[in-house]
Amino acid sequence: MEISKLDDSVREEFPLIRDADIAYLDNGATTQKPESVLKAVDEYYRKHNANPLRGIYDLSTEATECYEESREAVADFIGAEDAGEIIFTRNASESINLVAYSYGMSTLSEGDEVIVSTAEHHSNFLPWQQAAKTKGARVAFFDPEEDGSFDLNKLKNLINERTKILAITQISNVIGRINDIKAMTDLIHEAGGVAVIDGAQAVAHIGVNVRELGADFYAFSGHKMYAPMGIGVLYGRKELLDKMPPFLYGGEMIESVTKERTVYAELPHKFEAGTVNAGAAVGLKAAIEFIGRYGFEQIVARENALTARVVDAMNDMPCVDIIGGRKACNHHGIVAFRIEGVHPHDVAQIFADSGVCVRAGHHCAEPLHRYLGELSGIRVHSSTRLSVGIYNTEEEIDRFLDVLSGIRGKMGY
Ligand code: ALA
Repeated sequence: MEISKLDDSVREEFPLIRDADIAYLDNGATTQKPESVLKAVDEYYRKHNANPLRGIYDLSTEATECYEESREAVADFIGAEDAGEIIFTRNASESINLVAYSYGMSTLSEGDEVIVSTAEHHSNFLPWQQAAKTKGARVAFFDPEEDGSFDLNKLKNLINERTKILAITQISNVIGRINDIKAMTDLIHEAGGVAVIDGAQAVAHIGVNVRELGADFYAFSGHKMYAPMGIGVLYGRKELLDKMPPFLYGGEMIESVTKERTVYAELPHKFEAGTVNAGAAVGLKAAIEFIGRYGFEQIVARENALTARVVDAMNDMPCVDIIGGRKACNHHGIVAFRIEGVHPHDVAQIFADSGVCVRAGHHCAEPLHRYLGELSGIRVHSSTRLSVGIYNTEEEIDRFLDVLSGIRGKMGY
């Protein structure tokens, strides 16, 4: 597959990597930030900073406008019907905790069930494990197949009259396959439940429309889509958010407070207690504009071509085992792998010594590694992962492959 020339200009936009002698291939963990995002955050603090939503003086009004414009931009970006359905949080983990503590705790009763896919990042598992434990509910696991796909018949068989929630990722941070979320949300809706989708590994890489997906809740972080750390998003259907109790209590999430009684604010402020991260929200809007300048058609084509270059080369390396199978088209920018006889941490160290940044470990998806390890008989509960972003180049992939091909030799095989 031909690699588009998009990188020639796009890479120039990223000050940290454009002149650095590293191959940054850990975009699933976090992405680098373009000049336009850095400039937007800098300008916000130089020219518009005050505490949003509080003051009536001009500067505070400006800060409020900047913050709320960012919310509108997020709503447009993911196809939400109303900006009130966009709640700003710190990250995807906090977004899912909000749903679990507010919706989960007020909906689940003893004997109810939450279906969680075994491919979840701990962020979309632990909040459900905890909510279920507190309410006497049960977590049922939706296991993937050995090739990383999900069999919808398995989901049908798991759903019953006690099922209230389905928690599943759109793209697993280990497998990299795009899940058929629409088919899954249809199934859970037929049973009267709701779907909580983790979009952390999707939003920077494929176009997302929460309404087309049928997502009741959709969570993601800014920092994995070229925006600053410290800003996350929870999309929720208005009808559900309206009925949910607040998650965090405190400043600016109220209409009125007396010693006896509090009336909470309307959406979305009911869920945004305390001073917000307006600078990072402004950075998120700039990141959305940055992505929009290139567009998902180019982004998908480029990232898939880079991924295919990795997978095709790995297919000629018998000692390399790819999690989620050897078909390039099933890995959207993410390739997690194991090298026979070499621990993933040693693998990542050898890459690091050569200036190639990849992640090793269980990638906050320990149940998935254990489950796939048992299925395949490989009892290493971790892997090394490469994950690409908009600015990666063919040369970086070749540098990665060059190091990869020498690892077993270095380890004495
Ligand atoms: N969730 C991030 C990852 O998968 C940190 O690396």
